[in-house]
Amino acid sequence: MLPLHLIKGKGIKGIGLQNIKMSVIDEVKQRTDIVEVVSQYTSLAKAGRTFRGLCPFHSEKHPSFFVYPEQQSWHCFGACNTGGDVFSFIMKRESIDFGEALRLLAQRAGVTIPSRSEQGAGRDKKERLYQVNEATAQYFHNLLLNSPAGEKARNYLASRGLSPKTIADFQLGLSPNSWEALKQYLMERDYTENELLTAGLIIEAEAGKTHDRFRNRLIFPIFDAKGRSTGFGARVLDDSLPKYLNSPQTPTFDKSSSLYGINLATAAIRQQNMAVIVEGYMDVTTAHQNGFSNVVASMGTSVTEQQVNTLKRLTKNVALALDADTAGEEAMLRGVSYENTLGAEVKVIILPSGRDPDNVIKQDTKIWQRLVEEALPVVDYTFNMVTAKLDLTTAKDKSLAVGKLLPIIAEIKDVARQDHYLNKLAELTGTSYHNLERALKGYMHRAGKPIQERITRAIRPLLSSPVEEYCLALLLQHPELKDKSGNLLPEYFENSENREILIAWQQANDLPSLKEKLDAAIWEHLDSLINKSLPANQIERKYANCVLRLQERFLRSLEAKREAVLALEAESGGTAAELAKLEEQGIEVSAQLGEVFIQEARGSGAKEVGK
Ligand code: UTP
Ligand code: MN
Repeated sequence: MLPLHLIKGKGIKGIGLQNIKMSVIDEVKQRTDIVEVVSQYTSLAKAGRTFRGLCPFHSEKHPSFFVYPEQQSWHCFGACNTGGDVFSFIMKRESIDFGEALRLLAQRAGVTIPSRSEQGAGRDKKERLYQVNEATAQYFHNLLLNSPAGEKARNYLASRGLSPKTIADFQLGLSPNSWEALKQYLMERDYTENELLTAGLIIEAEAGKTHDRFRNRLIFPIFDAKGRSTGFGARVLDDSLPKYLNSPQTPTFDKSSSLYGINLATAAIRQQNMAVIVEGYMDVTTAHQNGFSNVVASMGTSVTEQQVNTLKRLTKNVALALDADTAGEEAMLRGVSYENTLGAEVKVIILPSGRDPDNVIKQDTKIWQRLVEEALPVVDYTFNMVTAKLDLTTAKDKSLAVGKLLPIIAEIKDVARQDHYLNKLAELTGTSYHNLERALKGYMHRAGKPIQERITRAIRPLLSSPVEEYCLALLLQHPELKDKSGNLLPEYFENSENREILIAWQQANDLPSLKEKLDAAIWEHLDSLINKSLPANQIERKYANCVLRLQERFLRSLEAKREAVLALEAESGGTAAELAKLEEQGIEVSAQLGEVFIQEARGSGAKEVGK
């Protein structure tokens, strides 16, 4: 059955975001407009950038209920003096819990929600696949190390210079020269034929007949960042083709979002605050063996947004090792979009023509080191590539350079960096900055803007709230913080699913009992919080900071909303009593905000002392 919580983003195809996995909650948010929903309960009138109506929760004559389409939230400044998102609106209005509200809105939006038992079963199934992969990796590894048949493969690895330690670290293996050995081994251990098929370990050759996928090959088990065994790469031991076979797409393996070696590279990437992406399995093993442990592989295909996203959690400094022959194209086509994903500059390491990191490093580690040090920012590299063959004293070539580089500059989201390269282009071509800027604006307007807006809208729920999620992740992963969570109020969270988790966590004893309290539709989101990678030290301080930031955000947003209402009221001649009430609420908010600032100042003072 189709896992509906993996529904792919709609309407954002073809712009590099097509593989984002949305949770059901995000999918519902995506397809729901709070203005439409609320309008079914009370009539709303547009007022500036908001919509206004009589509060559907209590009877009033003067409308004090507001809906904010941009934030997809609501607030009542009247008797309720509270607000939230579309889920909390429905929960309050229908007196139902989060799960019921989600189901109601999902139905309305045409999103199907897998039942609790389906979700649980799905997770167990996936867990079994990780297990069967792990068992397979061990089986192959053991054969490589200990079987007579492994000798040829052991010699091959030795001829490629891999040490026993590297072979052990990467759990390299050998798949036997047999059609059924793995299948039998695993079925004796109670894995079903169906599970082996789903894991991509066996193939259905003709109806009802299956056999092992990987035969007589050197095995590179692939792990995710959490060290779970997700799939395999398998190399021939001679020159035959195809050189490599990889696991097919399975519930645990998606080649385009995997990074080979990430399980062994995470610590080094954090420590060196830099990651290098190479192409091949062998490039990674050789790099690690020679002390370059921040190296991971994209496994042959060009780097994807998901791979950049995985690294982004570890570092903002990413360098791509590219083959001299294809580097230009790769850099031009995707460089800037990786940068936009990363929110930072991407560098390129240009390898000598026809060489790969494996043989460069083996020849001389210093050459590799120098190549890494000399890595160029991808846009600078593109400039070099484009201008290398041009004569920039001629009008024709100036125009060519501008024509090629301006669209790339237009893609850069970071204003400072965009300006930097616009200046560079002006200097190089002797064109006035002003003229280039005008051309650029035209470009961005034509090509960029509408798409940009569509993206922003499309991914809004996905980017929902890093601070909320960071704070919850800290709290969930460090149960000792729970005692300190009393001052963290549910209203600080704009997203109902986060509110739900906080409330349930404050009442739960441990993660399993937390899960029991929550609707199954939130589990996926909860899991992502529990597994979020977090800094290792000064947890308490980071948590305290986070709470203050949430509190400040909450109060500021309240203040901004209140001021907007006040302005509206003043304009439309609201009654003195109402104005006074809003003023009073404002004084209260300002006082609380003042308190937050004092605590923040104390916090940063403590940091200074603690250094
Ligand atoms: P290469 O052909 O450069 O192989 O492919 P390699 O990694 O240098 O391997 P050696 O040095 O010849 O042993 C680079 C990567 O592309 C993927 C693999 O991940 C490989 O490591 N690839 C290549 C495939 O998935 N399938 C193929 O048939 C070839
Ligand atoms: Mn190679």
